[in-house]
Amino acid sequence: MAQVLKASEENLKIAAEVIRKGGLVAFPTETVYGLGGDAFNPDAVARIFEVKERPSFDPIIVHIADFDDIRRLCKKVDERAKILAERFWPGPLTIVLKKSENVPDIVTAGLDTVAVRMPSHPVARKLIGYSKTPIAAPSANLFGRLSPTTAEHVKEQLGDRIDIIIDAGRCEVGVESTVIDLTKEPTILRLGGTPVEEIEKVIGRVKILTRSDKPRSPGQLSKHYSPKTPLRIIRGNVAIGHGEKAGLLAFRRPDDDIAKRFEKIEVLSSSNDLNEALRQAAQNLFSALHRLDKANLDVIYAEQVPEIGLGKAIMDRLRKAEGVE
Ligand code: TXA
Ligand code: MG
Repeated sequence: MAQVLKASEENLKIAAEVIRKGGLVAFPTETVYGLGGDAFNPDAVARIFEVKERPSFDPIIVHIADFDDIRRLCKKVDERAKILAERFWPGPLTIVLKKSENVPDIVTAGLDTVAVRMPSHPVARKLIGYSKTPIAAPSANLFGRLSPTTAEHVKEQLGDRIDIIIDAGRCEVGVESTVIDLTKEPTILRLGGTPVEEIEKVIGRVKILTRSDKPRSPGQLSKHYSPKTPLRIIRGNVAIGHGEKAGLLAFRRPDDDIAKRFEKIEVLSSSNDLNEALRQAAQNLFSALHRLDKANLDVIYAEQVPEIGLGKAIMDRLRKAEGVE
């Protein structure tokens, strides 16, 4: 079973040593927990794929602690990348650029591009710094399943497969980074913790890849981020089947007459301010889904949230959890 370690300096140095020796460490970022290995060690990266049961065609994000590290990973860092990095790094934005030869093919699934992100979580930054190497890290969950926002979530899914989990409490943002491809017309490959509206303020209009487009990022697979319990997004009136044990993922606290139809309810937000409510909802989303998934329900009904700011990423995750085209 994995050792769950507090994020003390001493433990981070131990974890960094594990990374340097080609081992894997699960660690917190501001978005979700990551499963990290030395990005320049193909064997370590191969183990990440194995542990996650991740298909080899799905490339992995490389995490850096200093902007200068990007030069070890990318051929050319153009002006737009610099502008985005300046504005959003460290933080929940991943930038896809042409890769340099140094980056092992296994990291990028054979693509000639690499996804780079500088996380803002101090524990992630320290771990990368002490490891003295960029860290390749997907979310620390089994492929296709719910992402982990606590060390406990990581332990449940991967505890018997990895050595160390660094525990620094729950993740602040709660949904994964926004992934933007700058190798052509700027295109959002995955909606996430940095709202598209904010990105457009600095580089102008960007394209958002939709599901009718050919997948360019496996994060776009239609079934992903899924609980084991079937999830249905509420469209119109909720009609709950006879004898069905149903859970509700509510954006705001529901009225009593709605609430009484459900066996278990998770409320994502309490604020009256919409932006704050969406921030709360993103932060609570995966934890709430993990709890509903463990409640032995027949079905989870999910309320829609307004599709602005972080609401876009939340609805993206709910649609993928539902897995219906
Ligand atoms: O917030 C996050 O991004 C978290 C934390 C740990 O940093 N990581 C994360 O990794 O969500 P993962 O592997 O679960 O998702 C990475 C996404 C996938 O959709 C993958 O297809 C895409 O990024 N991706 C990675 N490299 C790519 C590349 N070179 N081109 C296009 N998409 C890429
Ligand atoms: Mg993931």
